Amino acid sequence: MGFVSILGMAHRLAQERVQPGDTVVDGTAGGGNDMLALVRLVGRSGCAYGFDVLPQAIARTETRLQEAGIEAERYRLITDSHERMETWIPPEKHGRVACVMFNLGYLPGGDHAAITTPATTLPALVAALRLLRRGGLLTVVVYPGHAGGREEADAVERWAASLPQREFQSLLYRFANQRKDPPYLLAVEKLG
Ligand SMILES: C[S@@+](CC[C@H](N)C(=O)[O-])C[C@H]1O[C@@H](n2cnc3c(N)ncnc32)[C@H](O)[C@@H]1O
Repeated sequence: MGFVSILGMAHRLAQERVQPGDTVVDGTAGGGNDMLALVRLVGRSGCAYGFDVLPQAIARTETRLQEAGIEAERYRLITDSHERMETWIPPEKHGRVACVMFNLGYLPGGDHAAITTPATTLPALVAALRLLRRGGLLTVVVYPGHAGGREEADAVERWAASLPQREFQSLLYRFANQRKDPPYLLAVEKLG
């Protein structure tokens, strides 16, 4: 049968916590798969924000959502770097976001220069925790296999391990015997 995949586990954790009507954020919209899952979870009464630095990724996500029949008023796609997410999300939603997802690295088949790096990833993760409500979820899929990926994965893991235990629960989901630096998941819950 096999264990749930890394991306599957990120989605499963989100499914368990996100309700219709919630506000959610995809920090790395890319090809739009995570964004589509989030938009479906929050339903017609919710709102999903998606960020990517690449206009090509934003266009791909837009197409993915349109092809899935998602009405434009249910989401907002923003071409900007994710550490500025708080400037785009209305202040009344700060501290009320149910879930923020990150899927680090680069856009498959896209511009590899637009790769996530600790210099912007870490401030983006800090911003994401500020946006979350109590009980809210942060998921980060890290890719140690590409150039610079190991440094980023280590930096994210150190950051997650340093979060105060009274305020956050931090989880690693990783296959122990896969070869070639497979991706893994870091998840953080803001405690109530
Ligand atoms: C692995 S892809 C994301 C996959 C996507 N979540 C999906 O479901 O298809 C990583 C994305 O992060 C984007 N990215 C890189 N640096 C970024 C930054 N500073 N802010 C926002 N997005 C960034 C890349 O352009 C790329 O599209």
